[in-house]
Amino acid sequence: MKEYWDKRHKENSKWYLTGTHLSRYKGIFNIPELKFGTVVEIGVGLGHATKALCGISEKVYAVDISSVALKRVAGKAIAIKSSKMSNIPSACADAIICHLVAQHMLDATLDNQIREAIRILKPDGVFYLQFAESMQEADERETFSDETKMQEGFMFRSLATVAHMVMEHGGKITQEGTVNIRKHFIRWHIVHICKG
Ligand SMILES: C[S@@+](CC[C@H](N)C(=O)[O-])C[C@H]1O[C@@H](n2cnc3c(N)ncnc32)[C@H](O)[C@@H]1O
Repeated sequence: MKEYWDKRHKENSKWYLTGTHLSRYKGIFNIPELKFGTVVEIGVGLGHATKALCGISEKVYAVDISSVALKRVAGKAIAIKSSKMSNIPSACADAIICHLVAQHMLDATLDNQIREAIRILKPDGVFYLQFAESMQEADERETFSDETKMQEGFMFRSLATVAHMVMEHGGKITQEGTVNIRKHFIRWHIVHICKG
């Protein structure tokens, strides 16, 4: 998958990398105040939000599977490969933001990321996570290969699945909401995760 994302980043593909701005994160996740001491962004895309966070936060960790993505934000944020989240100190982050990334991950990868995120959060920190679920009972996209699902963002999961992962790692979901993307029969879940 690293090669796949490196290619998308080299192409600067807005379709695949989205390029969500920080103000949109604030609205989507219902974030009360964007000024953080330490913040982690998982999946930097075009880097717009990462760079904006660098302007208003004391320390920003940028986590991505793609080294090309990390080069976009290097020098501004502290670049961390997604396989090296263990390098981020425990209990350091006021906020962690992960938007339009979980649906490109296998369950095992998301489970590991949730475990790391809960470890990294300060006692009063919040992990703002978006993930996707299919709105169709029998969705042919569920039968695609894992590689295709990861590339296209069709790694669907229910709130119960994610709540179980969170609980297993000593966290709790403190806020939840949904956004229906009817055109694509996809429901986004937006959750706030805290230490339990
Ligand atoms: C669809 S873009 C979303 C970018 C940004 N969060 C936004 O909302 O605009 C997905 C991003 O996640 C990264 N990514 C994909 N799989 C990942 C993984 N397992 N861990 C961390 N980042 C990943 C990609 O390289 C890309 O930068």
